Amino acid sequence: MSAVCRKAKLEDVEPLYQMIQGYAEKGIMLPRSKKVLERQIGEFVVAESEGQVIGCGSLCQLGSDLVEIRSLGISEGHKGQGIGSMLVDSLLEEARRRQLPKVMALTYEVSFFIKNGFSVVEKEIFPEKVWTDCIHCKKQHACDEIAVLKVLN
Ligand SMILES: CC(C)(COP(=O)(O)OP(=O)(O)OC[C@H]1O[C@@H](n2cnc3c(N)ncnc32)[C@H](O)[C@@H]1OP(=O)(O)O)[C@@H](O)C(=O)NCCC(=O)NCCS
Repeated sequence: MSAVCRKAKLEDVEPLYQMIQGYAEKGIMLPRSKKVLERQIGEFVVAESEGQVIGCGSLCQLGSDLVEIRSLGISEGHKGQGIGSMLVDSLLEEARRRQLPKVMALTYEVSFFIKNGFSVVEKEIFPEKVWTDCIHCKKQHACDEIAVLKVLN
């Protein structure tokens, strides 16, 4: 079974919502409403296999040279097949195209990001804007996510 990576379309909002909601309920992603997904659909890429969305990821610009990878997830049963790395590659390519060389993420999946060329960094190096979304997070005063960064060349 082969997966392809493509830009998300409005028709993907429902499966994107379901996937992100599933991970949000487990506390490993921030929830995104369907309205927000509709508005930000241009920031998303999806992995598709046999007509089904089986993975997603998005970019969120945080500064003149800084962008965050958000909402990166692969559905159960499709993990460990290189699809997450394929989505990260495509998001890095898009960051490069937009001339945003610093790509960061907040994650529990540190070894996955290290395999994809990121390094662990102190959260304090990032500007205030990185943390604006945290007001929506139940763990905002006890954030245990790890910050990772890749600087594109
Ligand atoms: C993290 C996630 C996106 C990785 O996607 P994936 O398609 O399973 O990853 P890949 O198959 O591309 O993995 C690439 C490499 O990382 C390794 N890897 C993947 N997940 C890993 C993990 N949890 N821990 C350690 N290594 C991992 C793989 O073994 C592979 O290594 P290899 O190339 O030497 O075989 C996926 O597991 C997921 O959806 N997790 C839950 C949601 C989440 O936490 N998202 C991150 C939010 S920032």
